[in-house]
Amino acid sequence: MKEADKKNNDVIILGIESSCDDTSAAIIRNGFLLSNVIASQAVHSAYGGVVPELASRAHQQNIIPTVSEAIKRAGIQKEAISAIAYTRGPGLIGSLLVGNSFAKGFATAMNIPMIEVNHLQAHVLAHFIKEENEPAHIPEFPFLCLLVSGGNSQIILVKAYNDMEIVGQTIDDAAGEAFDKCAKVLGGPYPGGPFIDKLAQEGNADAFSFSKPHIAGFDYSFSGLKTSFMYFIRDELAKNPQFIEERKADLAASIQKTVIDVLMDKLRKAAKQYGVKRVAVAGGVSANSGLRAAFQQHADKYGWDIFVPKFSYTTDNAAMIAITAQFKYFDAAFDSIDSVPFSKVVI
Ligand code: KG4
Repeated sequence: MKEADKKNNDVIILGIESSCDDTSAAIIRNGFLLSNVIASQAVHSAYGGVVPELASRAHQQNIIPTVSEAIKRAGIQKEAISAIAYTRGPGLIGSLLVGNSFAKGFATAMNIPMIEVNHLQAHVLAHFIKEENEPAHIPEFPFLCLLVSGGNSQIILVKAYNDMEIVGQTIDDAAGEAFDKCAKVLGGPYPGGPFIDKLAQEGNADAFSFSKPHIAGFDYSFSGLKTSFMYFIRDELAKNPQFIEERKADLAASIQKTVIDVLMDKLRKAAKQYGVKRVAVAGGVSANSGLRAAFQQHADKYGWDIFVPKFSYTTDNAAMIAITAQFKYFDAAFDSIDSVPFSKVVI
């Protein structure tokens, strides 16, 4: 099978993602996605956040069944795989070690190269995944990408797959963190972004206004906004204990609008300064319907060519790891068998 694929010059990449609380495996053949399996870990919901020790243990349990399922759904033999890619970081070190160790074992057993992938670069490059029978809208370099997740809020100038410049980033909380913390104040679950998003659709976004941060350049700050939201609610509850219940949807819509305005104001300025009209969004918060609508409005008003991922590529997934690895495969940018994961943010 491998020989046959080699004759066809097929490049088949198995991607593994295990940076946080999702174990995922995906197969990409010549840039086209064949399978993308994600095993989510329900165990954390009872704790209001991800418990690293539990995440590592769940990855250990999930990794082999997830990879087997991805290979099965792709309809290939494991011998056909050209290279194995895995998330090297950033993320939870115990979780990353599971993917790293699995990749080492698989690469050694199959005698194929191993490719390390930066999780944040992969979120950006998810826009290059192609699917059979679906029109592909793929950005040309250079483009700007707003990367917004639970741990990051960055504006990235993407000059090439391996040349990304962070032109702005949060100096404190990430946008997703702001959504999560505000949702908690409103009595919502973790993660709180989808809860705020859903409530906001029934609320008036102009009902309340919250002061926006004044930060120089293209950097963000969300901690002051979160604090002013908490103090505002505390003061209103002192006057009316039913305040949250009576105004929940308006509160969600107003805080969501403020976060989106802050994100888009800086992104718009960055697009102008760098003279770029191709603008992408990536990361967990890119699932937000208000943010998606704001992108469309900017496309209509400023002539932006926008790149908004499918919902399945907004959260952590191995398809983005595999597509990133495909770029590296063609450059023979292979990993060494003794490489170790890194937990901190680097791009
Ligand atoms: O990229 P991601 O899945 O995980 C990492 O942070 O690595 O992002 C998770 C974040 C959480 O803060 C979650 O609340 C947020 O994405 N999120 C959303 C929505 N869906 C997920 N935020 C706003 N609206 C959503 N629909």
